Amino acid sequence: MSETFLEVRNLVKIFGKLTAVDNVSFKVEQGEVVTLLGPSGCGKTTTLRMVAGFEKPNAGEVEIAGRVVVSTNRRIQVPPERRDIGMVFQSYAIWPHMTVFENVAFPLKVRHANRQEIKERVEKTLDLVGLANFSDRPAILLSGGQQQRVSLARALVYSPSILLLDEPLSNLDAKLREQMRIELKRLQQQLGFTVLFVTHDQIEAMSLSTRLAVMNQGHIEQLGPPQEVYERPQTPFVEDFLGRILRFRGTVTERQSNYQVVEFDGVKNVQVRVSDGAEQAAVGKKVLVAIRPEDVRVERDHAPGRGNIIPCDVENVLHLGREYELVLRVADRVCTITVPRESGSKVGQTIGLYLPAEHLRVWAATAALEETGTEQTTRAGSAARDFRAG
Ligand SMILES: Nc1ncnc2c1ncn2[C@@H]1O[C@H](COP(=O)(O)OP(=O)(O)O)[C@@H](O)[C@H]1O
Ligand SMILES: [Mg+2]
Repeated sequence: MSETFLEVRNLVKIFGKLTAVDNVSFKVEQGEVVTLLGPSGCGKTTTLRMVAGFEKPNAGEVEIAGRVVVSTNRRIQVPPERRDIGMVFQSYAIWPHMTVFENVAFPLKVRHANRQEIKERVEKTLDLVGLANFSDRPAILLSGGQQQRVSLARALVYSPSILLLDEPLSNLDAKLREQMRIELKRLQQQLGFTVLFVTHDQIEAMSLSTRLAVMNQGHIEQLGPPQEVYERPQTPFVEDFLGRILRFRGTVTERQSNYQVVEFDGVKNVQVRVSDGAEQAAVGKKVLVAIRPEDVRVERDHAPGRGNIIPCDVENVLHLGREYELVLRVADRVCTITVPRESGSKVGQTIGLYLPAEHLRVWAATAALEETGTEQTTRAGSAARDFRAG
């Protein structure tokens, strides 16, 4: 049985005229990694800081391990050091003049652990994060990755009930970031600690999370397992933020019970499968038609009248090493897709972009969305095979 470890209820934080966190609610079960994912400024850090107790909400409640630690209604505000949380920041925040051992021992000293216990726990934790041989080294002499490990060890050493991580990998270079990401996953699986993770990096969010919450302008747009959010985005924002997307401006021309027909960029009769009970736009409505790049296929045959194939002109072919980038012109717009090297497309050639009905999604067009629909970058799935077959 899973057990709720952290519950955030209707949190609100207002800075002057800005509602930085707008009625945010979610739960983290024991042993889960829940990620707040979203662009810079969407309220991730502020939410985390309210959970930790560094920021006071204007409204809402936070409950950790069955204990209400903040409630505006009930006037409860437990200070950070009494919330039994471990926290790791983007900026390590370790003490440069102390040794690695002293840094990691610090939270235990604050909690009045005895010398023997401190020694045992620090050594065990340093071993866990791969710093067993660095105990006596001044923290300032460590690399960025090692400093981040110290910071993680310091958060883990007193076995907090929950770990709060705010972009802990963002200051590391790409290679180290990937290595630490894998290590963090291993540690979490090994020790089973509960984590509330904050990042703007979709790869980190997709690979580390049990569930993720996509945030936008202070609110949660969608919360669910990474695969579900990726495959079934509930808003255009989520669809766009998580993964890559190709969008066309179109119009609904026909409605049936399990599919609708749209036209765009002069291409008529594009069928879109509609799942049971899903809402459909009325005939004549302006919509945005979207598809994930990996669901697109490039085909030689671009004869008009064949289902769901849009003719495109290859404007440019860029060699990326393992793959090619095709710059395609579709009516008045340019989009870029990535295809395997063998696809053999040439500049000036006309190709067909096949959009399978079951992978297309239709959104009501809004002004904000239309603006983003002009230039696109996307990645084609099994393009090479289709090219060879053609
Ligand atoms: N102490 C503060 N005073 C005023 N505005 C703040 C303060 N902290 C954060 N903000 C604003 O609140 C919004 C959310 O910030 P933040 O939670 O740090 O976003 P994120 O971590 O998602 O990048 C931003 O617009 C930010 O500028
Ligand atoms: Mg932040």
